[in-house]
Amino acid sequence: MRLDVLTLFPDLFTPFLNESIVGRAVRRGLVDIRLTNIRSFARGPHHTTDDRPYGGGDGMVMKPGPIFRALQSIERIGEKRRVILLTPQGIRFEQSVAWELSRMDQLVLICGRYEGVDERIRKGYVDLEISIGDYVLTGGELPAMIVADAVTRLIPGVLGGENSNLEDSFEEGLLEYPHYTRPRIFQNEEVPEVLLSGDHEKIRKWRRAESIRRTFQKRPDLLEKKELNREDKELLAEIRKELTEAGVEKNGKTTPLAK
Ligand code: ADE
Repeated sequence: MRLDVLTLFPDLFTPFLNESIVGRAVRRGLVDIRLTNIRSFARGPHHTTDDRPYGGGDGMVMKPGPIFRALQSIERIGEKRRVILLTPQGIRFEQSVAWELSRMDQLVLICGRYEGVDERIRKGYVDLEISIGDYVLTGGELPAMIVADAVTRLIPGVLGGENSNLEDSFEEGLLEYPHYTRPRIFQNEEVPEVLLSGDHEKIRKWRRAESIRRTFQKRPDLLEKKELNREDKELLAEIRKELTEAGVEKNGKTTPLAK
């Protein structure tokens, strides 16, 4: 997969591209990530990349020329290619979008700054607009890294265990079960007995129940969308009963910071 990033701040990407799983994928040639500095395509003595908005108002708008020329300079790789603008106005980035993008030959990510990019770029050259959530950042660089990260780890061969990304949260429409590693007792808290039992079927069932419990408590919206099989339905009924008896409400918190 080839990933091109158009940005005014290429240095922001340096540690991201060199460290950890993405760094290793780059070194192994599983993903070819190229940075293009939009400023290199600006003209005039000051290499200006932004200007005041027509019609007045606050903030600055990224000029279309430098982005257009930067786009033109990018080598075309393969047939399946998408030009993506990172913007709070885009479709919400989710795991299903990451999967679709991971099947492309080339992604070109445009990082906006200031109040936005000139509308003629969006209309004429962008295939898809992506938002990473309903909040406003100072630019599209962090969102571009998020998209690049989520997509890279889905490329075959990037993760060690071939199945490790199929078990992730969201792949199955459920949150993940709790994980434990050594030591067996930490600060007086023991690892659940079932995980030490060696009984694979019992462990599978326990993990499934915990996934459903977590999803029911933390993300009931996911559970509503999911088709449950008979075993899942039985587990959910048991969990509901347990929680009702224990007087625990799902989603009891009204705001994220409420205790
Ligand atoms: N640029 C600024 N905020 C953004 C967001 N939430 N998603 C994508 N791009 C952005």
